Amino acid sequence: MSDTLSKTERRVAWTGRGMAASDGAGVKLTRVIGQPALPDLDPFLMLDEFGSDDPQAYIAGFPDHPHRGFETVTYMLAGRMRHRDNKGNEGLLTAGSVQWMTAGRGIVHSEMPEQEAGLMQGFQLWLNLPARDKMTAPRYQDIAPERIPTAQPGPGVTAKVIAGEVAGVKGPVEAGATEPFYADFRLEPGSSVSVDLPSGHNAFAYVYEGAAEIGGRPVERGTIAVLTPDGSAALASDHGARLILVAGKPLREPVAKYGPFVMNTEGELRQAFLDFQAGKF
Ligand code: CO
Repeated sequence: MSDTLSKTERRVAWTGRGMAASDGAGVKLTRVIGQPALPDLDPFLMLDEFGSDDPQAYIAGFPDHPHRGFETVTYMLAGRMRHRDNKGNEGLLTAGSVQWMTAGRGIVHSEMPEQEAGLMQGFQLWLNLPARDKMTAPRYQDIAPERIPTAQPGPGVTAKVIAGEVAGVKGPVEAGATEPFYADFRLEPGSSVSVDLPSGHNAFAYVYEGAAEIGGRPVERGTIAVLTPDGSAALASDHGARLILVAGKPLREPVAKYGPFVMNTEGELRQAFLDFQAGKF
């Protein structure tokens, strides 16, 4: 076979570790995207990892707070979190579930632990919306663990597919303009796989257990690997690893953000504050 037939593989453009942070009413977490070294990765605005078996790290939760102009994706690996909003929606996020919330023109909600002991672990990802969708009606996709299918893209490799497609297995999320890909990979010792990702979409992998080789580069637990924009993602592990692989179509639009509001202009940002203060969310 000639080289021209070989598939392009993404390289690692940047690696970095998450930074200790605190949010909500004092929840301890690791900020992976949205820290000074990696302020954003279009269309991703933030990635937080939370994981502790010390209730003092999570018990205060995230009391009532607003969002406008983007989506929040909460993926629970362990623990239970109660979600409530100002539209009367309520749900329990259990281990293995995903809440994909499109905040659109605005919601006020709380995310509070429903446990006083034990492990609480997962991720929250913030995904930007294009200008035309920022003021859309708020929407939830609450996805129970049993609705998230498992793909087996290679020997010793399994992937829970939340959004997008792995080896013919489609995730349940109804995707928007950013065409997100989000899968949770488990690599057994000595396994490897090449994962197709849409060309031109920004992508990253975050290793949360063990250690992996991504695009041929060693990536330790607690490390994000930002990938170059074209080709497939090569994942491997000598001793076993768990990681999330996430990709999305960049919006290439101006971003004006402050706290929980992410708009395109300073004027829209001011309007978001005024609307929130006037109780219009
Ligand atoms: Co929130």
